[in-house]
Amino acid sequence: MYNIPQGVGLGMSLLKHELEKIRQQKLVIALDGHSSSGKSTLAHNLAQLLQLNHIDTGAMYRAVTLYLLDHHIDTTSKEKVSEVLDDIDITFHREKEKCYTYLNGRKVEEEIRTMRVSDHVSAVSTISAVRRHLVKLQRKMAASESVIMDGRDIGSVVLPEADVKIFVSASLEIRTERRYKELLDKGVKITKEEVADNLAKRDHIDSNRADSPLVQADDAILLDTGALDQGQMLAEAIKIIHGKTSS
Ligand code: DC
Repeated sequence: MYNIPQGVGLGMSLLKHELEKIRQQKLVIALDGHSSSGKSTLAHNLAQLLQLNHIDTGAMYRAVTLYLLDHHIDTTSKEKVSEVLDDIDITFHREKEKCYTYLNGRKVEEEIRTMRVSDHVSAVSTISAVRRHLVKLQRKMAASESVIMDGRDIGSVVLPEADVKIFVSASLEIRTERRYKELLDKGVKITKEEVADNLAKRDHIDSNRADSPLVQADDAILLDTGALDQGQMLAEAIKIIHGKTSS
């Protein structure tokens, strides 16, 4: 039986034995893209369908940011931030179908998604010491098992030898709509302009920072999710993975 993620109408005709072939391989998939491009949902759905571990590296940058804010550490001070990195432990634990982020043993999945963290996380992710620290952890997590890792620099820096690299993209307007709806559903009071502003600022910082900026790796395949629903995104990604792994 195939574990089709809940809420996903999988209009996909890929044969079951082809899916089975993909699942039998040790597979490392790198998924990069802009904020709210749909990559985390896609990574989650792929992980479920292909039975891979999902490592959400954005959650790791968010957890570091939450730690700094909670400990009143200046998020722009490279020195102060570097001093506390060894005190920060980030792990993922699976419960039923989903992986949850833990910071020093405390579940922080909800807290790391708040605007308080979103407003500071891109600045924190420009600090090279933070990136070195997290990249080391990320490589360790991907070393022994099949994984799908999503982020900004996975195909270009963290896992340049990944078997499959997908770069997910959608226009700022579409990403704003998606993020706005997500926040409204959670009961967050925010305007669409504020959401657009936060995304545009993060795009700018993520794409222009000196250390490991968001770029599409030369060998990554572009997947524009603008016109696709979750099921269509999953079907397209499976086609890409099948194409890369069947030869
Ligand atoms: O995917 P996200 O929106 O949860 O990511 C939060 C921030 O973390 C984003 O603004 C950029 C940063 N990030 C990064 O620099 N490198 C990664 N591999 C993942 C995220």
